[in-house]
Amino acid sequence: MAVDVLLGLQWGDEGKGKIVDYLADKYDLVCRFQGGPNAGHTIVIGQTKYVLHTIPSGIFRSNITNVIGNGVVIDPITFKKELAKLDAAEVKYKKNLLVAKKAHLIVPTHRWLDVASEAAKGKAKIGSTLKGIGPTYMDKTGRNGLRVGDLFAADFREKYDALKAKHMGLLKGYPEVAFNIEEEEQEWFDSIEKLKEIPTIDCEYYVNQAIKDGKKILAEGAQGSMLDIDFGTYPFVTSSNTITAGVCTGLGIAPQQIAEVIGIVKAYCTRVGSGPFPTELHDDTGEKLRKIGHEFGATTGRPRRCGWNDIPQLKYTIMINGVTQLVITKLDVLDDFEKIYVSESYTIEGESNYQLPYDLNDSNIEPNYTEIQGWNSSLDQVESYDQLPKVAKDYIDKLEQMLDTPISMVSTGPERRKLLVR
Ligand code: GDP
Ligand code: IMO
Ligand code: MG
Repeated sequence: MAVDVLLGLQWGDEGKGKIVDYLADKYDLVCRFQGGPNAGHTIVIGQTKYVLHTIPSGIFRSNITNVIGNGVVIDPITFKKELAKLDAAEVKYKKNLLVAKKAHLIVPTHRWLDVASEAAKGKAKIGSTLKGIGPTYMDKTGRNGLRVGDLFAADFREKYDALKAKHMGLLKGYPEVAFNIEEEEQEWFDSIEKLKEIPTIDCEYYVNQAIKDGKKILAEGAQGSMLDIDFGTYPFVTSSNTITAGVCTGLGIAPQQIAEVIGIVKAYCTRVGSGPFPTELHDDTGEKLRKIGHEFGATTGRPRRCGWNDIPQLKYTIMINGVTQLVITKLDVLDDFEKIYVSESYTIEGESNYQLPYDLNDSNIEPNYTEIQGWNSSLDQVESYDQLPKVAKDYIDKLEQMLDTPISMVSTGPERRKLLVR
């Protein structure tokens, strides 16, 4: 069992990037297995902040190979920009970044369709990042997509034109939205030259050979389990399997290769975009969490909706993913809170519930909160788990007990070193 998985157990932005960057040192390979430029994974090293969208968060460790798996969708334009930022920071990636030939390509008209589809939905919009994720995965499952391997085919241009023609037909059925196709297309074709410079692999063979060779692999999830296409708050989800099962199809490995599943959870909860969020706070406390936690999207800059942790929701995603250990992030954001709350159950139509209902969207859900004492002091100088105030440890113990899963690490700041290992 050579593959460990790291993924978010809420609605994304749990702090996955920071934890992958920290853990990457213990692995030979870090692999993204799904999602695309809708992701924004922040890593703070020293004074510098990096946001990765498509590139795995192991890229800052020069001895580690980073794989963009076949389950990922790649926009060459975003990808080129990410590489340019790494170049500017003198991060060497030429020898340790690989791309799966079977990864699908986001073309400019995918993004256009994403924008038009959201415009057509009006008030019911998903709140998509508008990066073309939905339309690209639709073309993948609809068997129309273009893949990285196609970039090297003699008839690539014809394939591209056929897909574009199909999209132009579809766009006629949507409200008109502003989009400069000539400009976007020019940039896209310029950018694919950069993508073609990155070595491509048969991901399934590459990863399985690495396993045979005794290499240790970390699979890095994007988004969160509540945004999973099958098990999230459908239809307010993304278009890929963000859960552990997605690792098998997104890299080409068998389930029995998976060992540890590390679930990342914020000390509270956030969501960006539309859709249900039972423990969302619409008051000053929500605003305070957003302000102290700097809860603004790393990809779109949108304000994130904030609320308390939701135990039935977390138990659900722990179950689906087979989580073996938890990492709690952003504990420091709660430094200044007199009281902390977690929802232990829901009341739905007068009845207590410990499970998520079929459709969180139309349930009249009332969270039942448990009050927990805050520690009311700064965790800034805390350098080891033992040094945490007792009340903060009590919160961690309480979460661990309620979630029935060991908590192995606690994060107390965006920087690499602000991590307390238990
Ligand atoms: P990801 O998508 O799961 O990688 O998370 P994002 O990068 O979108 O959002 C997490 C944000 O929280 C980033 O701005 C991180 O720098 C920041 N962050 C991560 N861990 C901590 C922490 O323990 N404390 C604080 N205050 N910020 C953190
Ligand atoms: P990381 O990896 C938070 C949300 C969007 C929207 C829904 C669908 O940084 O945690 P899409 O663009 O996929 O069609 O959007 O999913 N979403 C995210 N929210 N973090 C992310 O990624 C997200 N990726 C997509 O806001 O509600
Ligand atoms: Mg993010």
